[in-house]
Amino acid sequence: MSSKHTMQLLQILVSSALLLVGAAAARKTTTTHIKFYLHDIATAVPSSPATAVRVARGVTPLPVDPAFRFGDMFVIDDLLTEGPNAASPAIGTAQGFYIFASRTDFTLMLSLNMVFTAGPHNGSTIAVLARDAILDPVRELPVVGGTGAFRGATGYGLLRTYSGNLTTFNAVVQVDMYVRARASATH
Ligand SMILES: *[C@@H]1O[C@H](CO)[C@@H](O)[C@H](O)[C@H]1NC(C)=O
Ligand SMILES: *[C@@H]1O[C@H](CO)[C@@H](O)[C@H](O)[C@H]1NC(C)=O
Repeated sequence: MSSKHTMQLLQILVSSALLLVGAAAARKTTTTHIKFYLHDIATAVPSSPATAVRVARGVTPLPVDPAFRFGDMFVIDDLLTEGPNAASPAIGTAQGFYIFASRTDFTLMLSLNMVFTAGPHNGSTIAVLARDAILDPVRELPVVGGTGAFRGATGYGLLRTYSGNLTTFNAVVQVDMYVRARASATH
């Protein structure tokens, strides 16, 4: 083989290797943006039973609203839908809990799994653990993990209250998740 041919062969090998490395890197760093709406129903409405249930009562009433107490805890199984209307297509539920973690204002500690039961992420979950100051226009949710397509996920989410009522404590919350995970996790 002439040295010219050897050089050509080397070039082909090097570029194939780079392509493989590139493909592996792309598979590692898939970021998915998922937008949906969470329906947190603490007071039953004609169209829905309560999906957020107070299971523990704190002791000290909050100065901002004595109906709530520092330490109150709610367990949730909130509907997730494509659009802000509760009748829009369901894509899953948010299962977990929040506690009133501030002695002075409406700040929650939120711990939940977003469980997708329809759509492109059906069968996968995203786990989040967050501080949720519910009157802030935007709250950030750290992603702590996930399952299925979101195994080992990292990333964050943003919560924005779409509509809320501090009397019923019912709210529709816009959720934007930005999740990084391997494209596929096989068992
Ligand atoms: C979601 O996945 C489950 C399990 O694979 C399947 O039974 C169900 O029909 C799927 N639901 C939708 C709406 O695609
Ligand atoms: C909140 O809900 C209460 C009870 O249903 C209702 O009387 C009130 O008008 C609502 N407030 C807002 C701002 O929607």
